[in-house]
Amino acid sequence: MMLSDRTRLLSPPGTSKMRVIANELKAAGVDVVNFAAGELDIDTSPTVKSAAKAAIDAGHNIYTPTLGLPGLRKLVAELVSRQCGTPYQDTEAGVTAGAKQALFNAALVLVNPGDEVIIPQPYWVTFPSQVELAGGRPVFIDTRRSGYRLLAADVERAVTAKTKAIVINTPNNPTGTIYDADELRRVADLALQHDFWIIFDECYASLVRSGHEHSNIVALRPEVKDRVVVVNSFSKSQALTGWRVGYVAAPAPVVKAMENLQGHTTSNPNSVAQYAVMAALREGMAPFVDAANRLLDDRLQHALHIVHEMAGIKAAPAEGAFYLFLDIQSKLGKSFRGQQVKDVDALCELALAHANVAVVSGAAFGDPTGIRVSYAIKSEDVTKGLLRLQRFFAEIE
Ligand SMILES: Cc1ncc(COP(=O)(O)O)c(C=O)c1O
Repeated sequence: MMLSDRTRLLSPPGTSKMRVIANELKAAGVDVVNFAAGELDIDTSPTVKSAAKAAIDAGHNIYTPTLGLPGLRKLVAELVSRQCGTPYQDTEAGVTAGAKQALFNAALVLVNPGDEVIIPQPYWVTFPSQVELAGGRPVFIDTRRSGYRLLAADVERAVTAKTKAIVINTPNNPTGTIYDADELRRVADLALQHDFWIIFDECYASLVRSGHEHSNIVALRPEVKDRVVVVNSFSKSQALTGWRVGYVAAPAPVVKAMENLQGHTTSNPNSVAQYAVMAALREGMAPFVDAANRLLDDRLQHALHIVHEMAGIKAAPAEGAFYLFLDIQSKLGKSFRGQQVKDVDALCELALAHANVAVVSGAAFGDPTGIRVSYAIKSEDVTKGLLRLQRFFAEIE
């Protein structure tokens, strides 16, 4: 079969592999604790649900404008204006089928073949693939040495004449770390100085652990606004990953180019979901998000009690989103019940087979020394699963 060369750039996201296996085992009756999900385990809000039902009853079945219903686009522009602390017009905002489409639009409208795009590592699995599909070359910065934090000095070292953009994701998936405001300010200065784009993925901006704060890069350095593509989503914060509603904010010509692109790919995001999100935005999303954060704070506390007891395992600063990222390097090359733990993938497979725990291998995120554990699952499962992992790790020697 003659497929395009482009297909060679594509492999299934490493994040879904474990989730699929864990769900299959669960369906077969195995008591698996599934830490591999990338979404909240709670139901979306009654507002979202009833507005969706009303939209269906009202017969909102037809295409909407490509970048969203005018009313929603306006609300998104207002939301972004508040988040960025500087005004955004409707023409500088657009609605997409999840953050993923916003990011893909950004890659295709900004990156030329041969351009370099800086990506801090560990990274969310889709960033490099999207850059490569656009013909660009990902240039990775290893954040492990700096405790998983982005350092402007490392960005500066990675900048070349070919640098077109940097992708910044904070709060970060997979690490849960929130990048430091001063460092972000310095990265903004570098973007101005060297004339590159900042693709700022803040999908988890509202999911921040107690005592921590997320900073939007435009709010920190308004001068950089014309160099920033802000990407966000209702997927995580409103527990509606399957509904596919995200958004983008960027200079008007960039948004226009995205509209042209999206018009030839998917057209508008799902219309019913747009009406639902519009109702939630009008009502205010804070109560739902606050409740989710309280739940996640509580689960994280329970989780950290156990993680701190795991000998030889270090956790990345868990400050946002709902992920714990564990450094398991000390276990690699050792053996578990006579089997060698040759790499992180082998460790994850052994954990699933012998401890009935599904975690995502850091290899999926460009980090062969870590695993991602989502604590957005039932509290009792967080405890049960982490105790299993603790016993599993103790047997690797
Ligand atoms: C960092 C990051 N960006 C983007 C996305 C995609 O989000 P959406 O479901 O809104 O497309 C995810 C989903 O896991 C993510 O973790």
